[in-house]
Amino acid sequence: MILTIFGATGDLARRMLFPSLYHLHKQGRLPNDLEIVGFARRELSNEQFCEYLSDEFKNLYGNVFNLESWQKFCEKITYFQGDLASEADFQRLGKKLAEADTDLQSCTDKIFYLAISPDLYPQTFSGIRKSQLESICEHTKHVRVVVEKPFGKNLKSYYELNNNLIDIFDEEQIYRIDHYLGKETVKNILNFRAANPLFFNDWNKNTIDRIDVKVMESLGVGTRAEYYDEYGQMRDLVQSHGLQLLSLVMSELPDELTADKIRNSKTEILQSLYVESMENDVVRGQYGSGIIDGYPVKSYKEEHEKLVESNTETYVHIKAHSRLETWEGVEINLISGKRMQSKETSITLHFKSQERVKGIPSKNKLIFQLQPSEGITLDLQVKKPGLNELEVVPMVFKYQDNFRVLLPDAYESLLLDIFKGNKSSFISNEELEASWKFIDPILELWNTENSRPVIYPAGSKYLQIN
Ligand SMILES: NC(=O)c1ccc[n+]([C@@H]2O[C@H](COP(=O)([O-])OP(=O)(O)OC[C@H]3O[C@@H](n4cnc5c(N)ncnc54)[C@H](OP(=O)(O)O)[C@@H]3O)[C@@H](O)[C@H]2O)c1
Repeated sequence: MILTIFGATGDLARRMLFPSLYHLHKQGRLPNDLEIVGFARRELSNEQFCEYLSDEFKNLYGNVFNLESWQKFCEKITYFQGDLASEADFQRLGKKLAEADTDLQSCTDKIFYLAISPDLYPQTFSGIRKSQLESICEHTKHVRVVVEKPFGKNLKSYYELNNNLIDIFDEEQIYRIDHYLGKETVKNILNFRAANPLFFNDWNKNTIDRIDVKVMESLGVGTRAEYYDEYGQMRDLVQSHGLQLLSLVMSELPDELTADKIRNSKTEILQSLYVESMENDVVRGQYGSGIIDGYPVKSYKEEHEKLVESNTETYVHIKAHSRLETWEGVEINLISGKRMQSKETSITLHFKSQERVKGIPSKNKLIFQLQPSEGITLDLQVKKPGLNELEVVPMVFKYQDNFRVLLPDAYESLLLDIFKGNKSSFISNEELEASWKFIDPILELWNTENSRPVIYPAGSKYLQIN
């Protein structure tokens, strides 16, 4: 198996992909025959490239760095200096990849990971096509391509991107990554629902009143100002992570957890979403200056000279509903913001309150928490000792308390899925198309002349929805 990483010297490769591959290597979980080709422009020898990776790695994960195992890992890596704009470089790459098969009876799997800016996709696709890398093996299942978000900026640009992809690759070869889907708690959602009979019946409007998906950060835009200002919170976090978490938690539990069944169930949810009133049910905000953790922080506009006039949103709240009969009337809140009071990513299911016994209103809440730490909490009501009053108490499951292992990074888990050809944690074309169809009208409304975000003080907890 050969994994070619285009953009091997970039931030994603250096901070996420190579450290994840190294962790897997240390645990003996990489495919035995895996070879890694790192493709980028700058002139580096294999040794210099490994050195470059290890510098960052020691900074980030000094405690798990081991020189001997690192050197063994580096033996798997070849640095390939090339330019994505050069057809000749793609031809050279194709020759190199084909060499690996000359001694084998069959074609070894080839994976192309696009860890590059989307602006470089057209030339990369063109290079792949001209050097016929997509058909380097006779059977398409042996060749896979991995693409990262952003998947376009709206429905139109998504179609353009996707058309470029499907022009070359079959859908079964395409792995669209949303790294939230690789997180343990997220991978657990369907297992949890399937394995606990308490929850697998009536996971719908009969018992659930409201669903909140929150993706909140206390950090601001940081060093990503230019990229972020082009995309904003809606595209960067809601269209991708927020909608993925929502569709997974609302999806019909399939009779088996195959990729097709999971992805089709999620698509059905995404296609069913709607906003009743754009005016009243959508909030768009941008952070002003404020206080976080006791320290003053700048407003969004003050973060970078290019942001002074910006109307880009850093906060989104969408109140939505589903057209599916099973979810009729259930309130769905998608909330995501930067420079909020605290960091929190969670999915909360509020169960319906009923009064089965006079004077005792029922109430439960189930929370899948991804950040700041991963786990599941069930809020129960119990009678206070010695009193005839109820109190809400949390039953808490935390991975770190129960398993006492370092949770695998989302990229580790997703890379293993790619190696195995398991697409259940990757987004289908239909899911993305439905997500954009849901988001597009809101973006279009924001694009009108008089539309401005509400300015909120950094350190806010929420913005009020009408
Ligand atoms: N960084 C993250 O945390 C993160 C998270 C989620 C998704 N993503 C997505 O991942 C992708 C990569 O992001 P990134 O932050 O890693 O970008 P980056 O740091 O800008 O890296 C870009 C890479 O592309 C290479 N490159 C640029 N032009 C090239 C050319 N003409 N020929 C060959 N190589 C070229 C650069 O190598 P040389 O300079 O050596 O040529 C570098 O390795 C983007 O789609 C991004 O949206 C990133």
